[in-house]
This record gives sequence, C-alpha cells and structure tokens, in this order.
Amino acid sequence: MSYSIRKAVAADFSAIDEFDMFAGDRQEEISRGECFVAVDNEVVVGYLTTARTFYQCPFIAYVQVRDEAQGRGIGTALLTFAEARWPFEKIYTSTEADNLPMLHLLQKRGYAAAGEILFIQNEPELVFCLRR
Ligand SMILES: CC(C)(COP(=O)(O)OP(=O)(O)OC[C@H]1O[C@@H](n2cnc3c(N)ncnc32)[C@H](O)[C@@H]1OP(=O)(O)O)[C@@H](O)C(=O)NCCC(=O)NCCS
Repeated sequence: MSYSIRKAVAADFSAIDEFDMFAGDRQEEISRGECFVAVDNEVVVGYLTTARTFYQCPFIAYVQVRDEAQGRGIGTALLTFAEARWPFEKIYTSTEADNLPMLHLLQKRGYAAAGEILFIQNEPELVFCLRR
C-alpha cells in the first residue's frame, strides 16, 4: 500500500467523519493543526490527533484506521509520524483497558504503562508513555 501522511485540512473533515468512532468530531483538532491523515489513492484511510499539551508533554489523543484498511501498518505509520515530529523526551497516549489491537501496538512500539484513569469510559483508560 502506498499511502502518505500529512496534516489534515478542512476539506478532509467529511472523510474522517465517515469512520470516526470517537466522541464529538475532529473539526477543532483539524482547525488547530493537530490532526494528521494517512491518505491512500486520495482516500483518507486513517487519522491521528494530538493534544497541545499534557503537563507540557505531547499527548496522542485519537488514532483510528478505517476498518477495511486495518492490519496493513497504517496505525504504526501514523504513530511513527507523530513520534518523529516531536523532539520531546516523553510522549503520552491512552486507550481503554480492553482495546487489544491498540495495547499490542503500543507495547510493540515501546510505550510503558503510566497509570490509569477511571470514570471516563466504561473500561479504565490506561495511560502510556514513550520515553526517549
Ligand atoms: C488501533 C488501530 C489504530 C491499529 O491500526 P492498524 O492500521 O490496524 O495497525 P497496524 O496495521 O500498524 O498493526 C499494528 C499491530 O496491531 C496488530 N493488530 C491489528 N489488529 C489487531 C487485532 N484485532 N487484535 C490484535 N492485534 C491487532 C497488528 O497485527 C500489528 O501487530 P503485528 O505487527 O505484531 O502483527 C486500529 O485497530 C483502529 O483504528 N482501532 C479503532 C480505533 C482505536 O481503538 N484507536 C486506539 C485508541 S485511541
């Protein structure tokens, strides 16, 4: 697959919203320049958003790949892209305790468990940190 990754622009919103499973929508993140998309043949197949700060550190808030495009390395490529953009010592992210694909992906990339947040979702939200 020959996808590329770039910053999302306003025109990407409807394509992201077609498959976005997370609460709300990604309009604000796009307008703040905090959303990145993986594009294959001019189709948005995945996105990742960042939060501006997490106690002064970058935080990857959402990452999602279209169902039919999963398992082809796009999630890995989006994380790699975001990690490479930040010259910070630590990058944080989080996922629900039962999200096996994401837990597997984070473990593979060397993220370490950094705690859990309760009462946000049904499952505990597990926080991870990549330290470099
Ligand atoms: C998590 C997610 C982004 C991964 O994207 P992806 O493009 O499928 O990821 P990759 O193709 O780079 O695969 C990464 C690893 O996860 C593994 N994986 C993919 N689907 C899996 C599944 N259902 N169960 C277990 N592992 C899985 C892959 O096998 C791969 O590991 P490997 O190289 O050891 O085989 C994708 O599953 C997704 O969009 N999930 C819904 C949204 C979500 O839960 N986001 C995370 C919380 S913010």
